[in-house]
Amino acid sequence: MATVSAGLLKSSLGRKYLMALSGLFLCLFLVVHLLGNLQLFKDDGGQAFNEYTYLMTHNPLIKIVAYVNYAFILLHVFDGFMLTRANAKARGSSYAKVDQSKSSTWSSRNMGILGTLILIFLVVHMKSFWFEMKFGTMPTISYEGNSMEYKDMYTVVAEAFSQTWYSLLYVVSMFALGFHLVHGFQSGFQTLGLNHHRYTPVIKTIGIGVFAILIPALFAAMPLFFLLLN
Ligand code: HEM
Repeated sequence: MATVSAGLLKSSLGRKYLMALSGLFLCLFLVVHLLGNLQLFKDDGGQAFNEYTYLMTHNPLIKIVAYVNYAFILLHVFDGFMLTRANAKARGSSYAKVDQSKSSTWSSRNMGILGTLILIFLVVHMKSFWFEMKFGTMPTISYEGNSMEYKDMYTVVAEAFSQTWYSLLYVVSMFALGFHLVHGFQSGFQTLGLNHHRYTPVIKTIGIGVFAILIPALFAAMPLFFLLLN
């Protein structure tokens, strides 16, 4: 019996570690993805953005990192599902029902639901852009002084974001992303044991200011920019 519980504990700890590692890697991906997508705001007919998406899909090193990224997304989703299920079971079987709203934050109690909303967003997002880029028939474009033909992802993005429902889906999803990261970013560091009385407050501030507010707000500004200003 003791070995079974030890095994269970070990596996759920292992799961938590993998959740934390994959989650923090995905946070890093978000920063890179955001910086690249900021090219959309340039008033250059989409040239910088199309050159950026070309680089992202052709550079061999970036391609390898992309496969690691897909693996981490799948791992994070699977582990998240298993942990949410295990937590729900543990709560359901506990004798003393504790009022959780006093001992934990709203976002920490709803990580599973927030994660599911982000997953739905990702499926729609990947279908519209990633799938089209890789397997669709895209319009192409060339620029002065450059003989290359680029896939015109800028036009695909601009057309997608000119639809109100599609842009609103992005804005709502960025709220889910923000709330997921209110808890997720700092909790990742904690799970990995990276706690320090001096640095933990800094990590919490970065988690909320940068990952929960600034990054989702800048992502949400992209659809709104095309919907309202173009
Ligand atoms: C709202 C602004 C966003 C725009 C305009 C945008 C645009 C794109 C485009 C054009 C691609 C395909 C080409 C490429 O790989 O660069 C892509 C891929 C991707 N996007 Fe986004 N994206 C946005 C937000 C997000 C967010 C918030 C997430 C995650 C929560 C996300 C996750 C991904 C993933 C995982 C891929 C596949 C990357 C790869 O193949 O390496 N995107 N995005």
